This record gives sequence, C-alpha cells and structure tokens, in this order.
Amino acid sequence: TTFQKECDTPTPFLRNIANAIADDMQAGLAVEGGGDLKMLLTYVDHLPSGNEEGLFYALDLGGTNFRVRSVQLGGMEERVIVDTKSEPVSIPKELKTGTSKELFGFIASKLANFVANENIPARFRLEEGRKREIGFTFSFPVNQTSIDSGTVIQWTKGFKVSGMDGKNVVACLNEAMEAHGLDMQVSALVNDTVGTLAGARYWDEDVMMGVIIGTGTNACYVDQKDAIPKLQSISSSGTTIINTEWGGFSKILPRTIFDQEMDEANTINPGEQLYEKMISGMYLGEIGRRVLLQMCESSHLFGQSVPVNLSTRFALSTKDLCKMQEDKTDDLLIVGSILNEVLEVEANLEARRRVSQVCDTVVKRGGRLAGAGIVAILEKIEKETKRLSSGQRTVVAMDGGLYENHPLYVEYMKEAVFELLDDTFASLIAFKHTKDVSGIGAALLAATNSIY
Ligand code: BG6
Ligand code: GLC
Repeated sequence: TTFQKECDTPTPFLRNIANAIADDMQAGLAVEGGGDLKMLLTYVDHLPSGNEEGLFYALDLGGTNFRVRSVQLGGMEERVIVDTKSEPVSIPKELKTGTSKELFGFIASKLANFVANENIPARFRLEEGRKREIGFTFSFPVNQTSIDSGTVIQWTKGFKVSGMDGKNVVACLNEAMEAHGLDMQVSALVNDTVGTLAGARYWDEDVMMGVIIGTGTNACYVDQKDAIPKLQSISSSGTTIINTEWGGFSKILPRTIFDQEMDEANTINPGEQLYEKMISGMYLGEIGRRVLLQMCESSHLFGQSVPVNLSTRFALSTKDLCKMQEDKTDDLLIVGSILNEVLEVEANLEARRRVSQVCDTVVKRGGRLAGAGIVAILEKIEKETKRLSSGQRTVVAMDGGLYENHPLYVEYMKEAVFELLDDTFASLIAFKHTKDVSGIGAALLAATNSIY
C-alpha cells in the first residue's frame, strides 16, 4: 500500500538518517541551539565508581509514572545494601497540564509519605543538621547551569505545566518540600537517560550510552570534553555525559499525512519532537488509528460503516497496536479480538490481515528509526574513543515501556543497528535492558555530588 511505501526505510535511506542525526549532533555540540539535537550539558563528569556510601533518595518522574526510592549504599564491597522502592503511581492526567505548584505538591506529598514510613538503621542515620540528599530524575529537556539546577526548555510527552517559565526546577521542588515540612535537598538533577546510564554503569564499566524508548524517546552518551566546542570556555579534559534530546530530530524523516495530521490535531507541541513522534509509545497507536480510519472511509475496511471508536483520538493504544503486530498466527485471532474489544467491530480475515500490516508498518518504521539514532551515537563514541576498533565491548543501557514490552519492536531496532554498523563492531555491541535503574543512577549521582 502507499502507506507502507511511504514508511519504508531501506538500508541506504537509514544510513542517510544516521548521518543527518550525526550532523545535527555535531551542530548542537558546536553552539547552543546549533542543530535539531540540543546536546545538553548534564554536568555529570564523574560516573558512579562503586565507592559511593550512605543513604540517598531518588525521585523518578518518568513519562507515565512517578516513584520514590531510597538506597543504602555500602561502598565497593557491599554496594547496594537495601533498595526500597515505592509502588509506581501513574501521574494524574490533570497534573500534566496543571500548575507547577500542583505537580511539585504531588511529588512532595508522595515523598513525605515515603519518608514517614521508612526505617533507617543506625549506620545510615545522619548527624544533626545534615540534610537528606536526593537525586531527581526529571525526564524533560532542561537547560542546566550546574548538576543541581536548571530550567525547563520545553515540555514534551503531553505535559505542559504552567508557572515554570525561567524557574529553577529544583527551586520548585524545594518550595513544595518545605510546604510539606521536608528538610531534604536535591543534589543531582538528571534526565532519565542520564539516570539510566549512571545506574547501569555502576555494575558495568562498558556502558557508554543510555536510551529510553517509552512514552517518549531520548538518548545520552559519554563524550570527551575536548570534543565539545561549546564547552571549551568552561573546561577541557576528561569525560562528561551529553543528553542528546534526539526526539527533536526532524530532517528527511519518512513522515506521512497521518503523522502530520496527528501532530497538528492531537499533540500539545505541534512541529516539535518529530522523530520522537515516529518512535515512541505515546504516538504509535494514534498513527495506526488514523491509518485505519482512512482505510474505513476510503476502502470500507470493516464494511460500510466506520466504527464509532475509531474516530476517537488515542482510542488505539500503542500497546494494542503492538499486540496486533505481534500476532503471528495464521488466522490472526488476536488481531480479531483486539479489534472487537477496542473498536467493537467484527473483522473478517482479509480485514485482519490488512490491519496487521498497518501495525507492522508503524512498529517497523519506529524501531528502525530508533536504530539509526543509536548507530549515529555509537559512531560518535567510536570517533572519540576508538574503543570498538580496539576490540572493546560497548554496552547500550535501555529502558522504557515500549522497549520492555515489545520484543518485535526491539528486533527491528537491532536489525537496523546491525545493518548499518560495521560487522566487526556489531559483535562488540550489547544491548542491556536495565529496568528502573534510573532512580538508582540519580541516587548515586546525588552521592557523588553530595554537598557535604
Ligand atoms: C522507567 C525509568 O523505567 O522508564 C524512568 O525509571 C523513565 O526514569 C521511564 O522515565 C521511561 O519509560 P516510560 O514508558 O514510563 O515512558
Ligand atoms: C522526552 C523528553 C526527554 C526524555 C524522553 C524519555 O523526549 O524530552 O527528556 O528523556 O522523553 O522519557
């Protein structure tokens, strides 16, 4: 079909995409706002070493869930002695587009509940006057001025919180904590990709990249400071983490009319995050729904009438789209039952086949585009370190709901990586699903950057 053709990403085309991403990375490293990728400074110059000690807290505000955590770190020999996690709570919809007071009030109240119920062994009790320190995983683009401060550059993933223009994210949280009588302090403010990289690195020294494929998508990596022109005025040697914010990439993407219409009609940030909108969990289902709707209208996919639900925005979740894509049975019964449940239609085998194809097209394009981004970053790492050509294993730490739950998406992603990458390098790359380590990573960075 035309849709399939337009979404096609043959190897040479993917190569062009990877190269275009690489160009935008370079442009973003040269000057602030130089390219589609923001290439944000994170001020994470020291990765966890294993020596971290003490009790530290983590707040993890992801795309969908929020959770609190504390870790008792025992240093090199003992490592993580106790790791206490709150249940993840899904972030109430109203808070995503409410005021900063409401959002940070919610966060502080969950933290207050958590510390009210904790039991701290004598070894980890703090001396009088010392504040408990927090690593805050905040999964949005932030213009950081230090490891523990920064302002939101733009909202993504359907969030649009008011009252934060130009305001320090950490100050917003401090006010809310004060209102809850919490005498705690943020010592590290990190993106979720950075938390993931740092957490994964604690157990594996070969981790060089953190990638999230969830509600949104993004990647960070370890770069050499002397390869970052925009940093030259500040400092020079050693390494630092760069948060690419690759979701903002926008060039030569295989966008269709469905992508354009979704962007304009159903998103809070039209014209922004175009790469993210073709890759991540918030959007894939909605693209699929729009394609199916058009097939109903133009070629009677499900007979004469158009199912009512199919006209409702976001009626088809990415989860269901992926489940239909994963149905490899001959008569596509899973596709049938999901269509029945979600759209209340009885679809015959021919219709089920067409639906399954659409789902596959959307998933395949997403996975392959993500793969191209990973290759662009791996090649950048290789350019600075030559670690692959010297035979060194290199690990990509991965997390996010889409990555975790949809193995066929992941397969498409890896396939693309191995198509583009030099064969001798491919065998040295490992993808590791490091689930929920971003909180531990943030707590470890709070320890590394402790104010005491
Ligand atoms: C979680 C991490 O596992 O994944 C968060 O702890 C991250 O830091 C999240 O933001 C991303 O996935 P999703 O699917 O919730 O957007
Ligand atoms: C969005 C955010 C980015 C985050 C990603 C994954 O792209 O802008 O900061 O890392 O989602 O959660």
